Amino acid sequence: MEIIIQKTAKEGSAVGGRIVAKLVQHKPEAVLGLATGSTPVKLYREMIQWHTEKGLDFSKVTTFNLDEYIGLAADHHASYHRFMNENLFDELNMLKENIHIPDGLAEDVVGHCAAYEQAIVEAGGIDLQVLGVGSDGHLGFNEPTSSFASRTRIKTLDQQTVEDNQRFFTEGEEVPRHVITMGLGTIMEARTCLLFAFGEGKADAVAEMVEGAVSAMMPGSVLQFHRDARIILDEAAASKLKKADYYKWVYGNKPEWQQY
Ligand code: F6R
Repeated sequence: MEIIIQKTAKEGSAVGGRIVAKLVQHKPEAVLGLATGSTPVKLYREMIQWHTEKGLDFSKVTTFNLDEYIGLAADHHASYHRFMNENLFDELNMLKENIHIPDGLAEDVVGHCAAYEQAIVEAGGIDLQVLGVGSDGHLGFNEPTSSFASRTRIKTLDQQTVEDNQRFFTEGEEVPRHVITMGLGTIMEARTCLLFAFGEGKADAVAEMVEGAVSAMMPGSVLQFHRDARIILDEAAASKLKKADYYKWVYGNKPEWQQY
């Protein structure tokens, strides 16, 4: 695990934007795994800037999103389809056929999940998976006790996640309890995992995920087993890490050949 601590979410997102840009410059047909929620919004703004101001070409990039709510149509205001279009895809020159998000209205959920896994394989696997972490430690919608070997499937949200995500829904509107999510096993096959966490509300989950025991009760801790997991934090999210000074020194003193 590499822990990158920046002063603000904006600076952390700029670091992430450079990592994504470098990958796409080096491999124009890169396969990106993408997340939704508040955390990656600034990263997506960085990616849009790379495209509009520096001409970064996304026309050959393929994407796979982590998750979607079951029962929400693509145009529902709280669907992850809508979120991705509004926060990223509408501003990039990606081809529609290269964008993949689980279908919340799939009739055959099991078949749809298997086809989603197969599409990732056929695309050559995910080069870089963008992740956030839930306050309960979930990755994607892999709630506590999710198997580390899990694949794309239906999951039931924890009450904590329902409450955390209520803010994306209008008053009185229920957050769907069921979702389709890539599994932890699917996520772990990405060549690089890039997890962002910002704000004090994530400090406990981050400390447990990075420095705690590896446990299915803290799904994010599975990244301790990943060969290239980079965790980008602001000061507030890093505030409960015991070895924060060490991580800062390591990042600030990287030899040039190791920089990206
Ligand atoms: C969403 C996702 C979730 C979020 C997590 C954090 O696609 O995969 O794991 O990353 O719930 O959400 P925010 O960023 O809203 O705090």
